[in-house]
Amino acid sequence: MELLVCGGAGFIGSTFVRERVREHGDRVTVLDKLTYAGRRENLADVESGIRFVRGAIEDPRAVADAVAGCEAIVNFAAETHVDRSISGPEEFIVTNMQGTHVLLEAARERGLRYVQVSTDEVYGSIETGSFTEESPLAPSSPYSATKTGGDLLVSSYFHTYGLETVICRGSNNYGPYQYPEKLIPLMVLNALAGDSLPVYGDGKNVRNWLFVEDFARGIGHALVNGLPGEVYNCGGPDECDNLTVVGRILELTGRDESLIEFVADRPGHDRRYSLSSEKLQGLGWRAQVRFDAGLARTVEWYRENEWWWEPIRSGAYREYYERHYGRALKA
Ligand code: NAD
Ligand code: TYD
Repeated sequence: MELLVCGGAGFIGSTFVRERVREHGDRVTVLDKLTYAGRRENLADVESGIRFVRGAIEDPRAVADAVAGCEAIVNFAAETHVDRSISGPEEFIVTNMQGTHVLLEAARERGLRYVQVSTDEVYGSIETGSFTEESPLAPSSPYSATKTGGDLLVSSYFHTYGLETVICRGSNNYGPYQYPEKLIPLMVLNALAGDSLPVYGDGKNVRNWLFVEDFARGIGHALVNGLPGEVYNCGGPDECDNLTVVGRILELTGRDESLIEFVADRPGHDRRYSLSSEKLQGLGWRAQVRFDAGLARTVEWYRENEWWWEPIRSGAYREYYERHYGRALKA
């Protein structure tokens, strides 16, 4: 296939591009603004097999340039961190909603298939059981609200214009190349450095962990086999509360619990996410990586790839960390 992958220099997008180029021989154009979260280094091992366009999805000219010759658009581009959306939601509205609109227009003008990469957070929190694709949308953070806005626009283009759209909603991803503002890489890098591990609230919030390569394959199933107008949930095989995740990271890095520091809770913190993936399983997808094995692989990757994270931890991330956590990272 000839694909336009928006946000392909980020964590999940780059994993998807790698998989499509290597395993399926797709020709890929990546459109990415290269925000703090996007890096060309993430695509280093497939650089020769892709065309890269630096630009924003909310910019119709950049989109028109990038989309030329493509049969489908897969949109990963987003502002993605809940804490940043709480301190400044504006960019989330521009990228996650306006940007999605510009991409939908480009798909409509050219009659392209369109896949929106979305999140379980659009359903809000669930104490017991799991969300299906029929569950009501009840986002709680500015991040999840703007992702919901994007999803609703996508559905409207299917209903109104007959655009061939598919939405794939993933649960919490983890794995190599994840920017260390998110729970797992943040805790891994802090533990490796002997720095404290900031756990929000009581640490009992539960997430449904999905190894990034499993999500990349799930999105591939939705792209190739998904029915127009449909939504497919893609959840991980294991649930875990944050304190348990942090405990496993301490074991894998040889540190002890004295590093754990309970800090102020996130405002509006969702207690639990959980997805039923039966519908995507009906397309032949299965999660292949259990949490314990995926976490061990992830810790190993961060241990072995200091070249990747050292420039992040010594750059603007330090200022972000100090602003957000009210204290400096260990040098
Ligand atoms: P990420 O923050 O690592 O990467 C986002 C990418 O989008 C970066 O390369 C960034 O440069 C690019 N980008 C941001 N704004 C842009 C813009 N205006 N124009 C063009 N490019 C822009 O994010 P991620 O974790 O890889 O998430 C990818 C997608 O998957 C997002 O849509 C996110 O909502 C969704 N998702 C993420 C998770 C998760 O656990 N990380 C789970 C489910 C769904
Ligand atoms: P995060 O990785 O930000 O993903 P999301 O909010 O999209 O689920 O957070 C995962 C969980 O970890 C969430 O319950 C918040 C918690 N958390 C902490 O306890 N401390 C931290 O420093 C971070 C970043 C997250």
